Amino acid sequence: KKGGFEHYMLKEIYEQPQVFYNTIKALEKDSRLSMLRIPSEITVAACGTSYHASMAFRYLVQEYTTKRLSVELASEFKYYTPPVRDMVIGVTQSGETADTLAAIEAAKARNCPTLAVTNVLGSSITRSADWTVFMCAGPEISVAATKSFTAQLAVFMGMVNVMADGRFTEPLAHAHRSIERVLSTDLEAAVGLLGSATGMFYVGRGVFYPVALEGALKMKEISYIHAEGYAAGELKHGPFALLSTETPVVAICIPGQTYGVMLSNIKEMKARGAPIIGIGVEGDTEVESVVDVFVTVPEDHPMVQAVTVSVVLQLLAYHTANALCRDIDKPRNLAKSVTVE
Ligand code: F6R
Repeated sequence: KKGGFEHYMLKEIYEQPQVFYNTIKALEKDSRLSMLRIPSEITVAACGTSYHASMAFRYLVQEYTTKRLSVELASEFKYYTPPVRDMVIGVTQSGETADTLAAIEAAKARNCPTLAVTNVLGSSITRSADWTVFMCAGPEISVAATKSFTAQLAVFMGMVNVMADGRFTEPLAHAHRSIERVLSTDLEAAVGLLGSATGMFYVGRGVFYPVALEGALKMKEISYIHAEGYAAGELKHGPFALLSTETPVVAICIPGQTYGVMLSNIKEMKARGAPIIGIGVEGDTEVESVVDVFVTVPEDHPMVQAVTVSVVLQLLAYHTANALCRDIDKPRNLAKSVTVE
């Protein structure tokens, strides 16, 4: 059943090149998406991993389109009463998360058009929202979401591509090749560096901030190591006090707008003694020279690199949890879908 893999999580990580490809292709064919005029103001509500994918969506919309998108934790939607814009999108792998369903109901009560982004045909959210876009991840068995996160990114990148008049058709069509390549990333040195750490950080900027949050979530839920995701610029506003030789940091430093400042953040963290796992682009000797372990992703469109870095971080969590003999597919205290508030 696990297709020769030791765990469903690893099997599902390996399915991601195909999942990304299938989701992008399905979106291209899905005429409803382009017909559904994407309004200029959008609010997204989601939980957990789906919330992180939605945060990445916000950065992409902001960078590449003229639309405005805000993201809310579905569990907080009811308290903040966020301005309900032209459309509310509920993002949920299972389609059953109580808080995300409640956010859609709240939007409907305010006469707001609603869209569901889900992986499960016939799930509750598909009956509640006005429209549904499916991610083509296939059934996800492992409690830790992996391929559904990538499928959500594919949906959002496909939507950004529609909003940007097809500017990203080419890189998105080829993204599965880079995703395929990172599956064989050697993470032995990185797992070794984590050693017996009980606390660690993940940092990034821009779209790599939600990628860092998701990397940290994967690490804590399956390895039980206390991992905190941070926007790199926030570290000096408190968390710096925790940095020592005992707190490894995973720092994402990809060429682009955030590169230079990330590089100096890495140096600052190094100066406090923190062991650094740097995630950068192949051949980047500058990052390589300032970090303790250098892990690479292929050069590609920055949007695609958000996906490849995420996959590397899933693998890092997986191999770390495996080395600690954790119950990877069924972490303690967690359920696959959270159907109570
Ligand atoms: C983490 C994880 C959870 C879910 C969250 C939302 O790996 O799986 O954080 O992402 O419970 O679930 P859905 O997407 O089904 O609404």
